[in-house]
Amino acid sequence: MILVTGGAGFIGANFVLDWLAHSDEPVLNLDKLTYAGNLHNLDSLQGDARHLFVQGDIGDRALLDRLLAQHQPRAVLHFAAESHVDRSIHGPEDFIQTNVVGTFRLLEAVRQYWSALPATQKEAFRFLHVSTDEVYGTLSPDEPAFAETHQIEPNSPYSASKAASDHLVRAWHHTYGLPVVTTNCSNNYGPLHFPEKLIPLVIVNALAGKPLPIYGDGQQVRDWLYVRDHCSAIRRVLQAGRLGEVYNVGGWNEQANIDIVHTVCALLDELRPRADGQPYAAQITYVQDRPGHDRRYAIDARKLERELGWKPAETFATGIRKTVQWYLDHPEWVANVQSGAYRAWVAKQYEAVQ
Ligand code: NAD
Ligand code: TYD
Repeated sequence: MILVTGGAGFIGANFVLDWLAHSDEPVLNLDKLTYAGNLHNLDSLQGDARHLFVQGDIGDRALLDRLLAQHQPRAVLHFAAESHVDRSIHGPEDFIQTNVVGTFRLLEAVRQYWSALPATQKEAFRFLHVSTDEVYGTLSPDEPAFAETHQIEPNSPYSASKAASDHLVRAWHHTYGLPVVTTNCSNNYGPLHFPEKLIPLVIVNALAGKPLPIYGDGQQVRDWLYVRDHCSAIRRVLQAGRLGEVYNVGGWNEQANIDIVHTVCALLDELRPRADGQPYAAQITYVQDRPGHDRRYAIDARKLERELGWKPAETFATGIRKTVQWYLDHPEWVANVQSGAYRAWVAKQYEAVQ
């Protein structure tokens, strides 16, 4: 079996669902169920013996030792993290605890487990670390996209904590020989995305008749990849990635935030027009910029394409349509994640525009 950390979050849950759609190899899913973890993401696996869920913290060494000894995974896929830049600005502590200390504890537990495996299992074992393009910092408009060789220049507490975890993973390979691979992916979007991030926030706010908050001038550029394409890249890297290597994952889809928001509004105008006949874009509201806001991310994914033959299946046009439709079809999922804790966050972050 494989051990997935953070498998109740956005990408982790999509990965677990995608994995079990492609394979019968069981998944042990370790997730703390923070505000971002949601077991309803995995409702379709209820009663499925291939999925074993354990609520717990990657920083809990005793729990990790017990789970590894009991279930003997052949690979660990590490998704668990605090993942929201704005939250990292308001409160960096959790980011250091989970992303840095948690990853360290996980690496140590895995190292001990892996060291004691019989030779063939030891050789086949993999630790796949899921990371982000944000560790590379920010690009000016005419700079080439981030290659794996780009300097690590994180600018937010979130990206600094992820960069630290990337460095730990690298060091555990070079020092202890732990068989690791790391992926650095661009911004994901798709079903099950928590509505604190731009695309799901805009869909959910638009439907609720609320402002669509654009930070600063809205000209910041992100490189968007459909989440299931990220999942297929991870499966491919797990299968054939070279040990100790870093693979960038992206779909060559750079867009300014304001253009993303207009695209989502246009899709909603088509699929669920406003009762008053006005366009959803009328709800766009410019708000104060994020401190230290990275201007542009862009991923050069040619290494992954060249070495492992991976390519995304979705274009942005097909992926964003599927995504908007998924939110329209799942109002109960949205209502469920908008818990008291989520409402408190929105009140704090968008005080002036509610
Ligand atoms: P998410 O915030 O939606 O989910 C994170 C999950 O981790 C949640 O289920 C949460 O309960 C769990 N978790 C948090 N702390 C934990 C702990 N201490 N122990 C166990 N579980 C814990 O995040 P996501 O967007 O799904 O991101 C998953 C991974 O992918 C992260 O490592 C992130 O850095 C990386 N990544 C995300 C994106 C993106 O666009 N979302 C892009 C590239 C890389
Ligand atoms: P986000 O989804 O938080 O991802 P990240 O910061 O990791 O790239 O934000 C994507 C972009 O959208 C980023 O440039 C910040 C911007 N943004 C807004 O303009 N308004 C919002 O309400 C949010 C959440 C993000």
